[in-house]
Amino acid sequence: MSAATRATREIVHVTTTSRAYDVHVGEDLLRHTGKLIRKAVDADKAFVVTDTNVAPPYLERIKASLAAAGFSVSYAVVEAGEQHKTLQTYGSILERMATANLTRDSIVVALGGGVVGDMAGFAAATYMRGIRVVQVPTTLLSMVDSSVGGKTAIDLSRGKNLVGAFLQPSLVIADVACLSTLRPEVFVDGIGEVVKHGVLADEQLFEKLARTPLAQNARGSYLTHIIARNVAIKRDVVGADEQEHGVRQTLNLGHTIGHAIEAASKYTLGHGHCVAAGLCYVARAAERMGWAESGMAARIEACVAAQGLPTASNIPVEQLVEQATHDKKRHGAGVNLVVPERIGHVAMRHVTLDELTHIIELGEQPCE
Ligand code: GLY
Repeated sequence: MSAATRATREIVHVTTTSRAYDVHVGEDLLRHTGKLIRKAVDADKAFVVTDTNVAPPYLERIKASLAAAGFSVSYAVVEAGEQHKTLQTYGSILERMATANLTRDSIVVALGGGVVGDMAGFAAATYMRGIRVVQVPTTLLSMVDSSVGGKTAIDLSRGKNLVGAFLQPSLVIADVACLSTLRPEVFVDGIGEVVKHGVLADEQLFEKLARTPLAQNARGSYLTHIIARNVAIKRDVVGADEQEHGVRQTLNLGHTIGHAIEAASKYTLGHGHCVAAGLCYVARAAERMGWAESGMAARIEACVAAQGLPTASNIPVEQLVEQATHDKKRHGAGVNLVVPERIGHVAMRHVTLDELTHIIELGEQPCE
């Protein structure tokens, strides 16, 4: 990993076709936000987008840090929750940006979890045809996944993330201390993507996770190191394929069935919980198809369970098949499925919808 390591901070450098930037991971970084942004970008005004959960503990601290670094600061606080990742909220952010007289020399600071990051990023990508954004993720899921890689989006009534743009951030600041104030189930939800990264690319990371549950309040460098390692795994993939024409699709490991579980639960189950269960389904099926090393699925199940995440769902298999295939039926053909072959290695397989149905059925039965 090309990360410069200090006691409690790691810096992962990301290079994509459109932009290169640093991801700072460490404890108590929020109070340095202004200085870090000042060093990374030349900007006059900073516009903070955050939500009603994150504003009370952190907004004043970020505003003070930005003002001390010489930025003129304004902000928007939106309602928390995926149900607010809408055209309407996005429109209200843009109106606030215009009222604050932001120009192309200004910068958006997205302070929050994946929803805030997606929406603030999309507002930045489209305001005046695109201004810069700094991501300041405050959940584990946004630190290890959504703040890095430049995907931004909002939802439409017909589906999630149907409108969006690629906008790589100019800087990412992941303050690990923010994790200690999350509701425990929100913290654990992020571990789904962490286990996914281990299965995708790093057997050592996977083994660490299998041995020790990630502790929300762990101080010291352990969480910092795990998050930085995840960022580096994502960096390697995104650096090779920024716009998901090829290898970036492997980040969808566990997501084909995971999304079906999420949709069938009407989004009452967290994304990371659904990805963890989806990963177990595809692992069990891959082994039963003879595509994967024997024993791999049981190891994945044990790791997922050790982290307090589900290895299955109680959604009937017919409903999962319906959710996983119904959009695709109209387009015919099939789907690209990411198949784990052994821990740390995956393959892409194009499967027909009948094959996907069979895979979901095979994945439903737990390991013996
Ligand atoms: N979350 C998957 C990606 O960024 O491509």
